[in-house]
Amino acid sequence: MAHNETTPDEAQFDDLIARDERIEPRDWMPDAYRRTLVRQISQHAHSEIIGMQPEANWITRAPSLKRKAILMAKVQDEAGHGLYLYSAAQTLGATRDDMTEALIAGRARYSSIFNYPTPTWADMGAIGWLVDGAAICNQVPLCRASYGPYARAMVRICKEESFHQRQGFEILLELMRGTPAQQRMAQDAVDRWYWPALQMFGPPDDESPNSAQSMAWNIKRFSNDELRQRFVGMLVPQAEALGVTLPDPELRYDEANGCYAMSPIDWTEFHEVLAGRGPMNAERLRRRREAHENGAWVREAATAYAAKQATATREAA
Ligand SMILES: [Fe+2]
Ligand SMILES: [Fe+2]
Repeated sequence: MAHNETTPDEAQFDDLIARDERIEPRDWMPDAYRRTLVRQISQHAHSEIIGMQPEANWITRAPSLKRKAILMAKVQDEAGHGLYLYSAAQTLGATRDDMTEALIAGRARYSSIFNYPTPTWADMGAIGWLVDGAAICNQVPLCRASYGPYARAMVRICKEESFHQRQGFEILLELMRGTPAQQRMAQDAVDRWYWPALQMFGPPDDESPNSAQSMAWNIKRFSNDELRQRFVGMLVPQAEALGVTLPDPELRYDEANGCYAMSPIDWTEFHEVLAGRGPMNAERLRRRREAHENGAWVREAATAYAAKQATATREAA
């Protein structure tokens, strides 16, 4: 076959993408498409799982029974998100063992945002409002991603993320209606999480090498900078309602080009954290490894039970 001739499989794939339809696990797909999705979905799954830690840190110290119940539900949701996403990656041929091994060995990436510490209760508010808020902006367009299992997982995840964002907003609102010390605590948390949350959208468009291909495959629908603009546009009125200040003196709406002007982002810090030198990287991985080891008996018991059931089914047949 000539080098640049399209095979019937490729033609069908291209056609599905052109018609903005879904690619399903049994469909033919280019290797690079599969690899991109495995990388993106597994990183996303790891982020959900590691993301449980900064908030789990406050479950035993939540200020009331109501807050404890809400926070537990939220952290549990994140575990569920991780599981849907690992399952979506498995439909592409990735194995759960390989993905877990890559994570605990420190070879896999997850969102850098979870490598920051959570020293105060107000961090629970700022994480819900800013981190889950940024996650929503990123993830709503992924509900239309071309890979069916990923898109369907995102639909369910996004519903839960909007509850997460509102619970964060409400924690901050209550603190802002409290004593001056509580207001300062809320503002301090917003100051610490604002810039890392903006970095969650990834590098500026002109430095984002994989974006164009992901857009062509209908995995990504908006550029990093477009999503960042959308996020800031969502935050500005909400910050006003809360009475908190977004820590960017340059931030203003530019009528002429219809975007928010903002101070340059400090990407040096982002790259440091990404390279594993953030304040909490080592601790997050240590904790994940420990949880994996402590869970060994559950995996063994489940495997033994499955084997027993399989034998019983065979004998009955
Ligand atoms: Fe989540
Ligand atoms: Fe969330």
